[in-house]
Amino acid sequence: MPYLARRKLLLEKIGDGIAIIPTAPRRIRNRDSYYSYRPDSYFWYLSGFPEPDAAIVLVGGNKPRVLLFCQGKNEERETWEGVRYGPNAAREIFGFDEAYDFSEIDSCLPGLFSGHQSIWIPLGQDRRWETRILSAINVLRTKARAGTRFPTQINDLCTPLDRMRRIKDAHETALMFKAAAITSAGHARAMRACHDGITEYALEAELGHEFRRLGASGHAYPPIVAGGSNACVLHYCENSARLTEGMLVLIDAGCEFENYAADITRTFPVGGRFTAAQRDIYEIVLAAQNAAIGAIVPGTAFNAYHDAAVRVLTQGLLDLKILNGALDGLIESEAYKPYYMHRSGHWLGLDVHDAGEYVAEDREWAALVPGMTLTVEPGLYFSRGSGVPEAFRGIGVRIEDDILVTETGASVYTSAPKSASEIEEIMRCK
Ligand code: GLY
Ligand code: MN
Ligand code: MN
Repeated sequence: MPYLARRKLLLEKIGDGIAIIPTAPRRIRNRDSYYSYRPDSYFWYLSGFPEPDAAIVLVGGNKPRVLLFCQGKNEERETWEGVRYGPNAAREIFGFDEAYDFSEIDSCLPGLFSGHQSIWIPLGQDRRWETRILSAINVLRTKARAGTRFPTQINDLCTPLDRMRRIKDAHETALMFKAAAITSAGHARAMRACHDGITEYALEAELGHEFRRLGASGHAYPPIVAGGSNACVLHYCENSARLTEGMLVLIDAGCEFENYAADITRTFPVGGRFTAAQRDIYEIVLAAQNAAIGAIVPGTAFNAYHDAAVRVLTQGLLDLKILNGALDGLIESEAYKPYYMHRSGHWLGLDVHDAGEYVAEDREWAALVPGMTLTVEPGLYFSRGSGVPEAFRGIGVRIEDDILVTETGASVYTSAPKSASEIEEIMRCK
């Protein structure tokens, strides 16, 4: 079980302190209906425990121990909501030293805190938990006259946890490869299903169908299915328009598998054939992505692959005569920004924009290390109102893949059809 090793490592990082990691609450969608439940990413990373109303307590020091508070067995509630592990089974199956009924947590916390100087919690995640922990400290403060030592420091547990999460272990990469394979299949399915007159939401349904059919829990983030100039709205997610031959459609969608995300973008012609102008832009973005992937080498700064993408995109804008001037000067003055306004990628993992610093303590960009997973997602966007030649107006292209940093470079582990010819081929052979 990978969770025990992660908890052990975190215990080393908190020293004599005590750490509390709650899971996410169940959230009401409307009136008495709930959103489908997803555990908190930090909690899941340390436990793999799927139920709400639970928290892990790591007690550091000479005799470290790890406790789980979880829902008690309850025959009536289980009839409505499904079987619960209950503390005894949860302790055994999930490898905790001790486990207790969640209803006991408020009465237990002061006793657990007693004698510890530092509390570690993921700060800024859940106000109610912060209040709960401060209340437990206050209970101890009232006993100070009787010689009780109470915690005087609250530290952000996100800092050590984010550093751990930035480098994936073998258990995580296996799940991420699975999420990537399912997502790749979903994009291929959308390409095969696409035709003149189909709606953006019908293509979204093709992705959702494939994700669930292949065992994913669903989408890892709201999918973008953006036809024509909708692709120039970076966070478009209405997915409500009808697509017509001659348009491109940009799909940015990834499934979630065992709480791990994939994140793929493909842009393809609704009618199955790129026009000359669409292909010109597509090839520039693809070349930028290839250059960026080539710049991913252990030891280099996180920013290097963005710089590599920007260089190729800017050269492309020169070639298309959308920009004029010297390449270095155009890069320096960020002349590409009206057409490429976002960064070229982010960490990927349990969260689509995963935990982990991008800038180190010395304020330099973080260096790439084997085991990191990230996206590479350059694009070019020419909105209808942009002053580019008419043939390019209303075209938005992004290409996004998921990458594992290896000892020697980058391993691209997403596999949806990507070259213009592969895309035209799969769309021809429906
Ligand atoms: N799908 C969100 C992103 O690409 O960053
Ligand atoms: Mn992304
Ligand atoms: Mn994306």
